[in-house]
Amino acid sequence: MEKILINDLSFAYSDEPEKLIIKDINLEIKQGEFVCLLGQSGCGKSTLLKLLAGLQKPSEGEITIDGEAIKGASLERTVVFQDYGLFPWMTAGENILLALQQKYPNRKKKELKEVAVDMLRQVGLDESVYKKLPKELSGGMKQRCAIARSLGVDAPILLMDEPFGALDAVTRARLQDLILQLWSKEEVKKTVFFVTHDVDEALLLANRIVVLGQSPSNVIYDCKISDEKRATRDNQFENLEVLKLRNELIKQINQDVMSHA
Ligand SMILES: Nc1ncnc2c1ncn2[C@@H]1O[C@H](COP(=O)(O)OP(=O)(O)O)[C@@H](O)[C@H]1O
Ligand SMILES: [Mg+2]
Repeated sequence: MEKILINDLSFAYSDEPEKLIIKDINLEIKQGEFVCLLGQSGCGKSTLLKLLAGLQKPSEGEITIDGEAIKGASLERTVVFQDYGLFPWMTAGENILLALQQKYPNRKKKELKEVAVDMLRQVGLDESVYKKLPKELSGGMKQRCAIARSLGVDAPILLMDEPFGALDAVTRARLQDLILQLWSKEEVKKTVFFVTHDVDEALLLANRIVVLGQSPSNVIYDCKISDEKRATRDNQFENLEVLKLRNELIKQINQDVMSHA
């Protein structure tokens, strides 16, 4: 059980301590939830994700995981960023291997190399990619490698910050399907915290959608979506339930933007 509890969380960056980015957020995320965090650009989504990753410390309040306050980054929570986060001087395979060696310091390199190749296959890449440098790969392939790396580490919590934001529509759709397929097939589901500003992406992926309002941001909308009500690629623009929720989400975001204008 990996329950994330966000208690009265407020945050300001140290260079502007009087400017609160996040104010009094309370949120409980259960193990296995696929949470999409929606909100206008600049509202604080990445900031909240960095707090969850342990890359920033709360100014007030706390975030606990199974009752323990987060203290810095951890291999229990992997992060996938929009810019892939691969070291450019290492091959794709070495990037994955490095993360595996950090997670499993006592296992043999040869064994971990096999795991890395297997991870590449799981995300739809063939073995030849192992030896390629990131600059030799397309954006979609780089992001598949970043996903392979985070899957290899097998963290129970997966944090994703607009991971498909820089990809073309077709590649994005394929990677959305991949992430959903990987998450669905696990018996013990990973908890996913997925930041996006794209309402349709959230409707396709999430079983819970949380909307952040304008900075200093707080949760302005929070809804669970049962499996049978979740949008699919085939019905996302036809299913009335989905369209109703889509309208509601856009209305909530717009109202909040207007009220801060
Ligand atoms: N490292 C930083 N130092 C100071 N201010 C920052 C930093 N990163 C982000 N901000 C500010 O925090 C606010 C929220 O940013 P961010 O969390 O990146 O929003 P989002 O991800 O929703 O677009 C913005 O006003 C942004 O300018
Ligand atoms: Mg962001």
